[in-house]
Amino acid sequence: MSESTTIRWEQDADGVVTLVLDDPAQSANTMNAAFADSLDATLDRLEAELDGIRGVIITSAKKTFFAGGDLRDLIRATPETAEQVFAGSLRIKRRLRRLETLGKPVVAAINGAALGGGFEIALACHHRVALDAPGSKIGCPEVTLGLLPGGGGVVRAVRLLGIADALLKVLLQGRQYAPQRALAAGLVHEVATDRDDLLARARAFIDAHPEARQPWDEPGYKIPGGTPRNPSFAANLPAFPANLSKQLAGAPYPAPRAILAAAVEGAQVDIDTAFTIEARYFTELACGPVSKNMIQAFFFDMQAVNSGASRPKDVPAHQVAKVAVLGAGMMGAGIAYSCARAGIEVVLKDVTQEAADRGKAYSVGLLDKALAKGRTTPEKREALLGRITPTADPADLAGCDAVIEAVFEDAALKHKVFQEIQDVVAPDALLCSNTSTLPITTLAEGVRRQADFVGLHFFSPVDKMPLVEIIRGERTGDEALARAFDLVRQIRKTPIVVNDSRGFFTSRVIGQFINEGVAMVGEGVPAASVEQAAAQAGYPAKVLSLVDELTLTLPRKIRAESRAAVEAAGGTWPEHPAERVIDRMVDEFGRTGRSGGAGFYDYEDGRRTRLWPGLAEHFGTQGGEPLTVAGSPLRDMQERMLFAESLETVRLLEEGVLTSVADANIGSVLGIGFPAWTGGVLQYVNGYEGGVAGFTARARELAAAYGERFAPPALLVRKAESGERFTD
Ligand code: NAI
Repeated sequence: MSESTTIRWEQDADGVVTLVLDDPAQSANTMNAAFADSLDATLDRLEAELDGIRGVIITSAKKTFFAGGDLRDLIRATPETAEQVFAGSLRIKRRLRRLETLGKPVVAAINGAALGGGFEIALACHHRVALDAPGSKIGCPEVTLGLLPGGGGVVRAVRLLGIADALLKVLLQGRQYAPQRALAAGLVHEVATDRDDLLARARAFIDAHPEARQPWDEPGYKIPGGTPRNPSFAANLPAFPANLSKQLAGAPYPAPRAILAAAVEGAQVDIDTAFTIEARYFTELACGPVSKNMIQAFFFDMQAVNSGASRPKDVPAHQVAKVAVLGAGMMGAGIAYSCARAGIEVVLKDVTQEAADRGKAYSVGLLDKALAKGRTTPEKREALLGRITPTADPADLAGCDAVIEAVFEDAALKHKVFQEIQDVVAPDALLCSNTSTLPITTLAEGVRRQADFVGLHFFSPVDKMPLVEIIRGERTGDEALARAFDLVRQIRKTPIVVNDSRGFFTSRVIGQFINEGVAMVGEGVPAASVEQAAAQAGYPAKVLSLVDELTLTLPRKIRAESRAAVEAAGGTWPEHPAERVIDRMVDEFGRTGRSGGAGFYDYEDGRRTRLWPGLAEHFGTQGGEPLTVAGSPLRDMQERMLFAESLETVRLLEEGVLTSVADANIGSVLGIGFPAWTGGVLQYVNGYEGGVAGFTARARELAAAYGERFAPPALLVRKAESGERFTD
């Protein structure tokens, strides 16, 4: 008989058993083998001693309630181990079923985050009380790892909320709810203010419901909102996959479809059969390639990146108390908000007081929206705004221990603003520039303390975008790099670290995506097909609409500067077929993008109306056959974009601009919209059919058909020959 090592049994004189989840081997509880054994032993004991038990409270001794499945195990699942994965999924469901049919009330006292497996345990309880703790989240984020909740989460969410709400609120988007919002969404029954209140509420439920049962075990229970057996529901059913297809736009994400199928099929059968159906779909996803890519990127790579694998080790941790943000435009305003939200005092400086005030007003707008949606309180709003001081006077920057510059993209201006403030701020203040294109090494020449100067590249809109690219210039010191890293973590964003290069990592790579899409237009590929190819590859933004947003003049400006730099160094600029298309669009047709009122799309009042019909007329023939190598033209089009970005990333590794595979994967997905199903720009190479060698062979095919830019770089060829993957 197994023993409980991770679940502590505490029984009081009234016969209430508190099961305390407390894995001694880990900082969080997970569904590992020790937990499975402990649950067995605990269930055996509960059943054996049932007469003396009035009810059960499940809670945890950790900060979080329960972390979920063990991803180290799951990432090793293969089609060969499918039987074990299937059996494992069924086993956990059967155990939780024993818990909910115990015949005594079982209450989840959710003391912290209950995500995935944690929420599935809570769903198997008759009553759920969540502690309103900061950072506490509740939900089923499995879909964001290419999985579905395989511990009964699909089956129970459907029985609790009905098919439509379960799909929309819990399963398809992987939303994570703060306790109060979980209450509003019907995921928990009560919210407690502190730990005593949590346990008191749990006890009160036990006292009031001596024989609790799940709603779905009550006689006459029906799934809320009906099932496909119900004619009116059945009439609406085709809309579900149709909506999903529209959302996915053909991108290869298997999890949402599997979730939909498991929910709908499981709603038509008894609960045990529904568990089997859920286990089958779970197994299919867990053993397939996409979940592996996504677990690798969003769990393991993410952990490596956030825990500081790229941060210099021997510099003590540093917190910023007061930051100077120079330039209160679009980026500066967003940076000020993000810093103030993290509790940092912000002095927001622009050339005039009015411009600085406008920058602060941006935070007012964001907070008013958050307030209207119940995402903040009037007190928090006031406190955050109180931390932002708008000014036009450099003297107000006294005492700032970090500076983030976000003035116009002009090297001379940037030098000037740093000179203006370098003697006002703290003598050892960290000096950062949010430049998106200018080399950090040259910008640093404008300050006295070059070792303290570092690039801090935010993405727009700053309040939403989770990534910050930290750029180490030639003279940036370890201390500054580590402090920049700590600052990004302090404002709760994800930092990647790269060495200086024109366009750094992210801009150089996304530039290749843009070039490839634009080049296709020049070849006469219908623009609608180009957009469709990007969507079907899984890009969140279609390529031509993205260029219109960025403006067509920006790639021209970057090209001119890069070209001049390459030629000054005695090199030859590698022409790209996209350049001619962009030049003609701007010079011949005056179409510069959305802000100019016309680009690849037509606009009315700033809103996109249609792709510009002139594209077909001026660039090749509408419906003209695109070039093909092997397979379908659409496949070629998708792979040209994906390969162009991956190949540029390999070149950046070769040049030493990138030093970490995890940084590349995370940066590409979080910063520049590389499709998440791939697990990132280098995981795409690893996971390509035939692995790195298969990718290399395909790059050669693309090079033969579309140009030398697809020729595999030496590093790629070496990896392909030695059978190595891209890993850190
Ligand atoms: P913006 O034009 O919206 O704002 C620039 C602000 O700087 C203006 O408010 C201007 O009045 C102010 N400014 C000019 N001279 C100043 C001075 N001497 N002292 C203080 N403030 C001064 O520009 P945006 O888009 O915010 O860009 C700022 C920087 O961020 C640029 O270097 C840009 O390349 C970079 N960046 C922009 C991104 C974007 O998506 N727009 C993304 C990442 C970086």
